[in-house]
Amino acid sequence: MSSSITDARRAQVQAVLDACPLIPVIAIHRPEHALPLARALVEGGINILEITLRTPFGLDAIRELRKELPEAWVGAGTVTSVDQYRAVEEAGAQFVITPGTTDSLFDYGLTASAPLLPGVATLSEMMRGYQRGYRHFKFFPAEVAGGVSALKAFSGPFPDVCFCPTGGIRKETASDYLALANVAAVGGSWLTPQDAIDQGDWQRVTAIARESLALLRNGKVC
Ligand code: 3PG
Repeated sequence: MSSSITDARRAQVQAVLDACPLIPVIAIHRPEHALPLARALVEGGINILEITLRTPFGLDAIRELRKELPEAWVGAGTVTSVDQYRAVEEAGAQFVITPGTTDSLFDYGLTASAPLLPGVATLSEMMRGYQRGYRHFKFFPAEVAGGVSALKAFSGPFPDVCFCPTGGIRKETASDYLALANVAAVGGSWLTPQDAIDQGDWQRVTAIARESLALLRNGKVC
């Protein structure tokens, strides 16, 4: 097994983060919600979907969305073990996001078919990945781990590292993060409110996606 991540692998992760500046963190509580929810997000301009393994329906949702929505990037979130990583790859996940990271996950991600965006909350955790060549990380839980100020501080010692913060971010605060040079995308569950999903209010989901993207365009980012 190679001991360091390749440039090609880094480019794969960058391509995922370049696909859309906003990444919805999605929990599927009813299997029949997966496709209309995903379609509503795509309709609203969001073509990247992080389907978490927080419910038993995540794996099947990934399979279904890969088949039905070829125009979207479909990845897996809340992956916490190598066994889960293998399972989401088998389901067709195009990227894998973890909330925190273990050495086994860091090592598996070096050669896995789906690129890894490992989660970290501190520089010490990040440096374990950095040693293996990782340069892209999820920063979680962003708001309680120091938010924008922490990310600004991280850019001093590690100007070559890029983050996707998630955790406590809202549509009103996403552009504050995206204004930082070391932030490529931000994620969160504000894009998929559970009450809208429960009510099958897909138009509201589309509207939130559009509003959230419009706030970025009207702000300092785009
Ligand atoms: C994640 O895993 O990225 C978070 O649960 C998203 O955090 P949020 O629900 O506060 O947006």
